Amino acid sequence: MHNDIEEVIITQQQLQQKVAELGQHISHDYKGRAPLLLLCVLKGALMFVADLARAIDLPLEMDFMVTSSYGSATESSGVVRIVKDLEEPIAGKHVLLVDDIVDSGLTLHYLLEVLRTRNPASLRVCTLIDKVKERAKVVTPHYIGFQVADRFVVGYGLDYAQHYRNLPYIGVLKPEVYQAPIDGADTSGKGR
Ligand code: IMP
Ligand code: MG
Repeated sequence: MHNDIEEVIITQQQLQQKVAELGQHISHDYKGRAPLLLLCVLKGALMFVADLARAIDLPLEMDFMVTSSYGSATESSGVVRIVKDLEEPIAGKHVLLVDDIVDSGLTLHYLLEVLRTRNPASLRVCTLIDKVKERAKVVTPHYIGFQVADRFVVGYGLDYAQHYRNLPYIGVLKPEVYQAPIDGADTSGKGR
């Protein structure tokens, strides 16, 4: 286990099993509904979408969006900005928005509003983690990997100040890690 991690809350094996289940579920639901587009919200959903895409037994396309919000390293400010938009139109496509974690719900709420105006054939959300908390915005993902308590988590794509994305499990950082600035890291904004 990484030295900065206090506790592993979702193991690598649990992640693999859940992704396989989600892939089967999605393959079943989207059978005959082409074209399917996996829309990944970078950077946090990168690992998840890479594994999920390989667990879906259907032809599909992938595209990527980058969003950013201003705020502290662990709190969302609520102001969402699209830093990189999609490369292709989504009109007529079955869009599955893949995200790492729903926290305040502000990012997804905003993205869903924007995407709806572009007339996809359907639009659903698949999130790896759903934080159980009172949300600023109500967002109801169709597919949820895990529900976790309202704690800040890292690993499997999720970062703290751009670090820990490469951990193969999901864990909680030791409290002292938040106090000590990481060398050369920008802790002014929550990494997506
Ligand atoms: P929201 O807009 O507050 O729902 O969250 C937006 C984004 O913030 C998520 O998609 C994540 O990329 C990031 N985020 C929220 N909570 C966490 C966390 O516990 N760890 C790491 N990143 C998080
Ligand atoms: Mg994200």
